[in-house]
Amino acid sequence: MQIVQTKDYAEMSRRAALCLASEVAKNPHCVLMLPTGSTPEGTYQALGTLYREGFVSFQNAVTFNIDEYVGLSADDPHSYHAYMQEKLFSCIDILPHNTFIPDGNALDLQKEAEAYEQKIASVGGIDVLLLAIGGNGHIGFNEPSEAFSRQTGVVSLSEDTIRANARFFQNENDVPKRALCVGVGTMMQAKKIIFLCSGRRKKKAFAAMLNGPVTPHLPGSILQMHPDVCIFHTNFEED
Ligand code: GLP
Repeated sequence: MQIVQTKDYAEMSRRAALCLASEVAKNPHCVLMLPTGSTPEGTYQALGTLYREGFVSFQNAVTFNIDEYVGLSADDPHSYHAYMQEKLFSCIDILPHNTFIPDGNALDLQKEAEAYEQKIASVGGIDVLLLAIGGNGHIGFNEPSEAFSRQTGVVSLSEDTIRANARFFQNENDVPKRALCVGVGTMMQAKKIIFLCSGRRKKKAFAAMLNGPVTPHLPGSILQMHPDVCIFHTNFEED
């Protein structure tokens, strides 16, 4: 595990973007798995800059998102489809047919989850997973529980996560209660993981993730078992 403490959020974002872009520059057909939320926004912005400066092209890259809310259509502004379009896809030269996000509006969610898992397998799995963590230790929407999830499936959001994500919606009641999310088992098969962590409310989860026991009660702790994790974090003094 490589751990890089940066002086602030901007530096964390730039360093992580450079790390990810270098992987894509080395392997243009790189398969990426991507998160949403506030944490990666700066990284996505920095990736846009690296693309415009000619450092990297995403023309042959493939992306899979980690999760999507159940019940939101792709054109809903609160969906992760909309988030990715706005924050990253519109800023780089990725081809739309190479971007995959689970369909949270699928009639048969279980079938959608299985098809997503098969699609990941059909391109040879994930080369680079970009990941952040929730204040309660969740990764993607894999919440603290009794066992690590294996494959993509339907998950229920915890009260903590619903409260934390309410800031993106009009009010807490509008936050979907379920999501389609890639399993921890599938994430752990990624060849490389680039992990981002910043903000006061993540400090405790981050310390437990690194130094506590590996436990599904803190899903992020599983990263201790991965052979190639590169962590970029701040000093946690910002909000
Ligand atoms: C969300 C997302 C995760 C994200 C996490 C932290 O619920 N599903 O992918 O990593 O929670 O979000 P933020 O970066 O906004 O704190």
